[in-house]
Amino acid sequence: MSERFLPGGERFGGAARNGVKSGVPAKSRLRSTDVLRDEMQQMNQELIEAKVRLHRRLIDDLNLPMLERLSREELRVQISEIVTEYVKTERILLNARELENFTTEVLDELTGLGPIEPLLKDPTVSDILINTHEKVYVERFGQLEQVPVRFKDEGHVLRIVNKIISAVGRRVDESQPMVDARLADGSRINVAVRPIAVDGPLVSIRKFAEQAYDLDGLVSVGSLTQKMADLLKAAVRAKLTLVVSGGTGSGKTTLLNALSLYISNKERLITIEDAAELRLQQPHIGRLETRPPNIEGRGEIRQRELVKNALRMRPDRIIIGEVRGEEAFDMLQAMNTGHEGSMTTIHANTPRDAVSRLTQMVGMVGLNMQEASVKAQIASAITVIIQLQRFSDGRRRIVSVAEVTGMEQDVIQMQEIFKFNRQGTTPEGQIRGDYRATGLRPSFMDDLRLKGFSFSNDYFDPGISL
Ligand SMILES: Nc1ncnc2c1ncn2[C@@H]1O[C@H](COP(=O)(O)OP(=O)(O)OP(=O)(O)O)[C@@H](O)[C@H]1O
Ligand SMILES: [Mg+2]
Repeated sequence: MSERFLPGGERFGGAARNGVKSGVPAKSRLRSTDVLRDEMQQMNQELIEAKVRLHRRLIDDLNLPMLERLSREELRVQISEIVTEYVKTERILLNARELENFTTEVLDELTGLGPIEPLLKDPTVSDILINTHEKVYVERFGQLEQVPVRFKDEGHVLRIVNKIISAVGRRVDESQPMVDARLADGSRINVAVRPIAVDGPLVSIRKFAEQAYDLDGLVSVGSLTQKMADLLKAAVRAKLTLVVSGGTGSGKTTLLNALSLYISNKERLITIEDAAELRLQQPHIGRLETRPPNIEGRGEIRQRELVKNALRMRPDRIIIGEVRGEEAFDMLQAMNTGHEGSMTTIHANTPRDAVSRLTQMVGMVGLNMQEASVKAQIASAITVIIQLQRFSDGRRRIVSVAEVTGMEQDVIQMQEIFKFNRQGTTPEGQIRGDYRATGLRPSFMDDLRLKGFSFSNDYFDPGISL
């Protein structure tokens, strides 16, 4: 062997604690699929943790730059030796084929995306959050947890991050310390490094959810009820203008995607986003994405310009991934001038808050408009506001469906139609509650009826759980 890149002497002998005993579950007994799934998950989890520990040890011990000089075959021989020994000392039960796979995976990690590679491949992980080189958190099943993944140093994080984003033509360093990008597989990544990230690199990765939800899918995970879904589907088909409101990671983009499925295939849609995440299924669609300034600070294209441009593209509806600033003005204009059924999301805590944020955003344009006239525009543009919330049990729920009914003495009038009625928390931390109508019949019912959608009274009966 040409070069040894391991420091001589002790390798993975004495240090092996955390004996992982994992293996294939006995096939003999019949078990419920739930138990089996839990066990598989547990086993998978142990393997991933073992892999992460091994990887951590490798990056501490190895001469990383030297790795790049070895061919993949040379590397494979050396890594295979190390892995075999490690698996033995950690007492991980693997057959020859599993050992081979394990070696390949470790190799991929060393040459690929480093310590986060197993997390990227783990289908149960939806978000990866790197807080400096020392701490990594993931979100699984709606819950955040710290994972035993560590980078060697800041330089290591930067190398991996630049490897990831260079694939989409971006780069992060002190002169451009912030990057928000969409990767080829649809995942989204946000990176902040020194000097804006005071303690070192901060990286957030929202993995592309392989399973896209439709409204029925969201019903099955308890985010709303079938009756609510029926009404929302009709609202989309009837071209009511909808706004999805919620906090960070509350499921806004997911719901917007789900709602868009009920738009007719005959319509022409233009989507506008910072990092294209929406996955609209319609055939007639034009996707626009903003552009950051180049190194000289030029060439930036913001959402506002895209909204203006979209209007010249003869869309039936405009879908804005998230409205965040001055583009709110142009969006409202569009919604009020023949682009009914347009949709967007907004970061806000209640439907009322969503409206006041929109008012503020329009104010950012600096047109010196009267607040009352801005509100009047909002009231006539938007019909339904759907409020999402991420609960402490990790679930995302629609907590309110509200209707904007008009203006009265400079105040936007709203009424709630459906709400989540929280009743308590189980000892395991699960939130208990049900969905209820408030008893108010939406004033857009007439509009829906004209367009061929009708709903029986039990949709709006506050006395029954929806
Ligand atoms: N109803 C739901 N039930 C379970 N998981 C969900 C639900 N909605 C979204 N998720 C998951 O939650 C994560 C965040 O979803 P999403 O990107 O839609 O949120 P967001 O509010 O748009 O976030 P951001 O504020 O970052 O834009 C994703 O991993 C997604 O798969
Ligand atoms: Mg989003």
